[in-house]
Amino acid sequence: MRSSILTLCLAGATVLAGCSRDAAPAAGGATPTGGEPAAQSTAHFDQHSYAEPGKVRIEDLALELAVDFDNRQLGGSATYTLDWVDPQATQLVLDTRDLTIEKVVGEREDGKWVDLAFDMAQAQPPLGSKLVIEAPQRSERIRVTYRTAPEASGLQWLTPAMTAGGEQPFMFSQSQQIHARSWVPLQDTPQVRFTYTAHVTSPKDVMVLMSADNDPQAERDGDYTFKMPQPIPSYLLAIAAGDLVFEPIGERSGVWAEPSMVAKAAEEFADTEKMIDVTEALYGPYRWERYDMLVLPPSFPYGGMENPRLSFITPTVIVGDKSLVSLIAHELAHSWSGNLVTFATANHGWLNEGVTSYVEGRIVEELYGKERADMETVIARNALREGIGEMSDEAQSLAIRPGVEPAVDAPMGDVAYDKGAWFLSFLEDRFGRAEFDAFLRQYFDHFAFQGIDSNTFIEYASENLLAKYPGKVTRAELEQWIYEPGIPESAPEVASPRLDAVDAARKAWLDGGELPAKSATEAWTTQEWVHFVEGLPDTLSTAQLAALDAAYAFTGTANGEVAQRWYPLAVRSGYGEADAAIAVFLKRVGRRKLIMPTYEALAATPEGLALAEDVLAQARPGYHPITTGSVDAVIAKAKGDDTVATPAD
Ligand code: BES
Ligand code: ZN
Repeated sequence: MRSSILTLCLAGATVLAGCSRDAAPAAGGATPTGGEPAAQSTAHFDQHSYAEPGKVRIEDLALELAVDFDNRQLGGSATYTLDWVDPQATQLVLDTRDLTIEKVVGEREDGKWVDLAFDMAQAQPPLGSKLVIEAPQRSERIRVTYRTAPEASGLQWLTPAMTAGGEQPFMFSQSQQIHARSWVPLQDTPQVRFTYTAHVTSPKDVMVLMSADNDPQAERDGDYTFKMPQPIPSYLLAIAAGDLVFEPIGERSGVWAEPSMVAKAAEEFADTEKMIDVTEALYGPYRWERYDMLVLPPSFPYGGMENPRLSFITPTVIVGDKSLVSLIAHELAHSWSGNLVTFATANHGWLNEGVTSYVEGRIVEELYGKERADMETVIARNALREGIGEMSDEAQSLAIRPGVEPAVDAPMGDVAYDKGAWFLSFLEDRFGRAEFDAFLRQYFDHFAFQGIDSNTFIEYASENLLAKYPGKVTRAELEQWIYEPGIPESAPEVASPRLDAVDAARKAWLDGGELPAKSATEAWTTQEWVHFVEGLPDTLSTAQLAALDAAYAFTGTANGEVAQRWYPLAVRSGYGEADAAIAVFLKRVGRRKLIMPTYEALAATPEGLALAEDVLAQARPGYHPITTGSVDAVIAKAKGDDTVATPAD
């Protein structure tokens, strides 16, 4: 189940670590003291940003930063090269959160830099503070000198003890959706794209990497320069620093990780170069030169993040048999869907995540075969089917119709990912694979380096698919998939004989027969185990759980996907034998999707809640702010404290 990356956004509350959905000042709600996000003269109003890209746009960003581990702080300056789009405009409005702004200067026509007046509005969670810079001369370059707060929502700082090697500290960013503003003052909306350069200094034993042209041979000297020549939206700005070494995979791919992890990671991700080749053959050239992966500590709150040229990856997918590398396919696929063709605002999340999940499936099919791809599809669709019924109509839709005010809890989560991917499979099914592949390739090319919305997709597909191959799909069908709730009747079905066999084996045991024999389960991959556990009843007896443990050792499993499903079942069933292993798991892993179901199950009973609180107290220093926010909210809710808002990403 892809679950909860964006799903938790549905809670629609405001909190610092909050997701983009939460950022929306609710319709009719209080006016933020920093002022409502201004409407822009461009077509897309982004309620998650104060920026005014219809007036002025950042075209290039030059960062000069020092990484200060002692103070958990990045400090330095950001210099913007600006395009003053509106001839009347004399203000640059930037998004910031918890930043200290020290100085703002602008370059005069004679080349001299002069002080500019600026005003930092009071913070309005979770948008942050609107920074208004007065630029009467409409300077082509403006420089902001600033530093970050130790609790910056987009950064995690780890002490050496929290790393695998235990010698160097570690720091990494997570900018999506609206966290870039907590470490760089920016027009933090995907409608603005900029190139960037950076000069970063750090303690000299620490390696620094960015979503840019990392040099595999870079000397570790505490002084690094980066260049990102392709224009990117702010949520793809990324930085990491730590005891990181490189291991090549192919000509243009490799892994960065802590020394003790790097060989294992390179082995697990050995097919990455082939993935790039396969995706290029399907959808056109990879436009970002290198594709490297950075394996983060287990506290990384997500599975992966598609930072350009350097995907950030959770170590929890390294399970020894490549069974979870569809995550790499997913992050790589974003190099086309998302990083190249980007949603104009997070309200069109499916254009990033749905298209990417579809492409992910195609890469998996090419490399590992249809059987594997179909298993993953069935697992994802089962989860979607299970969850979608409980959602509001709006949350069940991929997007809202143009002109309709986005509600606080608009669509995201499994819907954006799996209904989005299903929609594309539907189109593939109706138009034929060759035709649909050609369309998608042309789509990536046509909208390369642009942000678009759902309506633009509909218009483009109407012209280049519907009209080109008449009589196959109607515009009403397109609109139903995108704007209506539920899963359309026209949805194509996929069968998985391998998962059917798992169903049969599980049923035989539950009906009083034997557990599936080793000879059968030996060939099972993560997908089959996940499906086996997901299909078990809500609760089992202690004897049944013990029998499963005796046969398959679920308790203590090293596979986070299995743990994510097994531990909640153990908790619901009152299987105290798993408590110690649960505590170890929750303290070791900070990836939200994997641990939240267990916290939620624990929070349902007083004894469970006590265990959850105890574990959290110990785990907290190692958790990312995004994860802490989610866990705190679940615990607060269980205690009836509704003052702690439910966050999301
Ligand atoms: N871009 C997302 C992660 C994300 C989405 C972060 C929204 C913040 C807000 C990334 O590409 C992603 O989807 N990651 C998934 C993995 C994937 C295989 C479904 C994850 O982290 O689980
Ligand atoms: Zn994604």
